[in-house]
Amino acid sequence: MKYGYFDDLQREYVVQRPDTPAPWVNYLGSPEYGAIVSNNAGGYSFAKSGANGRILRYVFNQFDQPGRYLYLRDNASGDFWSASWQPVGKDLEKYHCECRHGMGYTRMLAEYSGIQSEAVYYVPKDSAHEVWELTVTNRSTERRELTLTGYAEFTNHSNYEQDQVNLQYSLFISRTLFDTNRIMQQIHGNLDAQAADEMVDGKTVTERFFGLAGAQVASYCGDKDAFLGRYHTYGNPKGVAAGDLGNVLSYNENSCGALSCVVELEPGESRTVAFLLGMKPSAKAAELLQGYRNAADRCEKELKELKEEWYGRLDHLRVDTPDPAFNTMINTWNAYNCFITFVWSRAASFIYCGLRNGYGYRDTVQDIQGIIHLEPEMAREKIRFMLSAQVDNGGGLPLVKFTHNPGHEDTPDDASYVAETGHPAYRADDALWLFPTVYKYVAETGDKEFLDQVIPFANRDEGTVYEHLKRAVQFSLAHLGPHGLPAGLYADWNDCLRLGANGESTFVALQFYYALRILKYFAEDRGQQEDCRWLENELEEAGKKIQALCWDGDRFIRGFTEEGERIGAAQDPEANLWLNPQSWAVISGLASEEQADEAMRKVFDRLNTPYGAVLMDPPYHAHAFDGALAVIYNPGTKENAGIFSQSQGWLILAEALLGHGERAFRYFTENAPAAQNDRAEIRRLEPYCYGQFTEGPASKHFGRSQVHWLTGTASTVMVGCVEGILGLRPDLNGLRLAPAVPKQWKSFTMEKDFRGRKLHIRVENPNGKESGFTSLNVNGQELASNYIPEKLLTAENEILLVL
Ligand code: GLC
Repeated sequence: MKYGYFDDLQREYVVQRPDTPAPWVNYLGSPEYGAIVSNNAGGYSFAKSGANGRILRYVFNQFDQPGRYLYLRDNASGDFWSASWQPVGKDLEKYHCECRHGMGYTRMLAEYSGIQSEAVYYVPKDSAHEVWELTVTNRSTERRELTLTGYAEFTNHSNYEQDQVNLQYSLFISRTLFDTNRIMQQIHGNLDAQAADEMVDGKTVTERFFGLAGAQVASYCGDKDAFLGRYHTYGNPKGVAAGDLGNVLSYNENSCGALSCVVELEPGESRTVAFLLGMKPSAKAAELLQGYRNAADRCEKELKELKEEWYGRLDHLRVDTPDPAFNTMINTWNAYNCFITFVWSRAASFIYCGLRNGYGYRDTVQDIQGIIHLEPEMAREKIRFMLSAQVDNGGGLPLVKFTHNPGHEDTPDDASYVAETGHPAYRADDALWLFPTVYKYVAETGDKEFLDQVIPFANRDEGTVYEHLKRAVQFSLAHLGPHGLPAGLYADWNDCLRLGANGESTFVALQFYYALRILKYFAEDRGQQEDCRWLENELEEAGKKIQALCWDGDRFIRGFTEEGERIGAAQDPEANLWLNPQSWAVISGLASEEQADEAMRKVFDRLNTPYGAVLMDPPYHAHAFDGALAVIYNPGTKENAGIFSQSQGWLILAEALLGHGERAFRYFTENAPAAQNDRAEIRRLEPYCYGQFTEGPASKHFGRSQVHWLTGTASTVMVGCVEGILGLRPDLNGLRLAPAVPKQWKSFTMEKDFRGRKLHIRVENPNGKESGFTSLNVNGQELASNYIPEKLLTAENEILLVL
């Protein structure tokens, strides 16, 4: 079943049926001032932290309320409705609407009883406030008088837990005031006698505002209960029904901002007003509102800026393939999803309440990979930041605090770090993610000097980027398990797999092998002979050990527990085949051709489903070893044999590296949100963003996806598609073109920006291949292989690859 469609030209997803199986949301602004808005206007806002800077209330685990509500009332009939279908929820026979989620904005269009409305929600570029622009048009043949009301439900405390849980305190610190065109909410307002900005008991007066521009306020309300009325709901607030908000303010009650204005419209006439929301003192709010007097013009200009910014980013790679779902994901939605995870990490969604007090090391380093081909400079700054969160012993800080202060941080070796972050120890994989990320950045840009930039370590000392990478290798070497493979430490990529501090993970061993290869490639390019020899030896050693210990005849095992028990071996009753060691054996370059074929076929036969491959099989139930935390989840869920979406990205890449275009593309399609647009009742999540996992065959809800938006899936699948399926594989000195595509793709094109040049690439596939190379022509010159040395490139390049 479909609830909407992709408008690729506008880069919008259009929700046509508002009763979606879950709230389908969009992100506005940035964590500086962030807002999440659903297709029914549900959602919340915050400044800097979803947990500590919460401005708008949202009740989790309840169906999508409250939100940024805009009500319209016909003053002749007394009938009222909302600019989004909910919260009033008019009969869909009479109420026609669509919600358009775009790049950094969301538009709600509705028509009811001859009145058309358009609400646009956005956070202007580089701003710390949000705008709800509302335009109403009279489509009837009579003159109409409408009351327009905006409603914002403030939290009583910026900390969302205090607001939700500690009511004996938070109810009694908030109050609202009214001035001209705005409701002001003060938290700890009684501290206003103290000098400005002075902290009293760690608290200052926090001021939020909800204001109206473009019309006079006719009535207002700052008290949630008074606005709703006893035993009323958001669907029929008393003040809205009456057309008069009663001019009530809160004092020891739940605060809100509600403002009404009255507009009169001749047939065909339109009127635009803007509601503004933010965290500013009254005078600043007044000034800001003043700037929106001419609401329509100002909003148009700001929206144009937003679009230009987003389009500018996304246009660095444009593909046109025979598959519309692939195009929309790569050109717009997967790319947008990558930027959202890049910026927001795991901070705030309808699942993440904002409580994480920092950046997860591995998640953040992985997230960077998804935007390197689009915004390498942005990526570089984050890479620098993450390198500065690497301890001088080479390990990564499992959690990088928002207040991260390079050179001065304590580490997992210090009790203080453990107490503050709750992370008891290093994880085996964290710093190893740096290798593919740094490699991708240097290869995309050709910026080899980056490796010589000096960056502090988290606790003390500093070193070049190259030195940072060396130390990451040394960290793994200093933490080897009994078989000589990297030790499991606290965990590897799989949060639910505790092999024990001295256990050994095949996944980490393969990451380590890959890291050695990348570092060796850098060392060779830099002419560092001694390092080359050292790395060559380590590679040989590691390769031999992994081969001897982890290959089980037809699959790679998952690892060893501290007690030496093999996990993921063929004879295990549960979890005897794991996905990641198979795909990573290919990605890392360790697997021989035969092993790769065998292991990947096993994955396809045993783990694959119509929604992607499960993480392992069979799920843990009765035979979980002590460290198999996944058993706490219902079978078919998350790490317990769910279809972990991030792993689909590695699977796509691995198959593509092997030249298996058919399978690579099949894996893409099985798990791609856009490819499931017509199965929304099964998938449930937004058809335009990835989720953390899809429930596997062992679940009662096989095919349902969960944990929207903020997931490593976005970047990993992006890499799988761009490097893998599209085969855009830059290295230090040029670009290899090695697509792996479905046989029936006759041709496709790619417009790529590469190191300041434009590449117009056309791939032709006259003989129905799934990969391979027949000829490559660059600007009229035939090349001998599918590799384009950078020196052949000019400002504009016409490139034709024949498979
Ligand atoms: C979650 C975590 C990530 C972890 C993955 C697998 O997505 O954010 O760090 O690697 O689960 O357990």
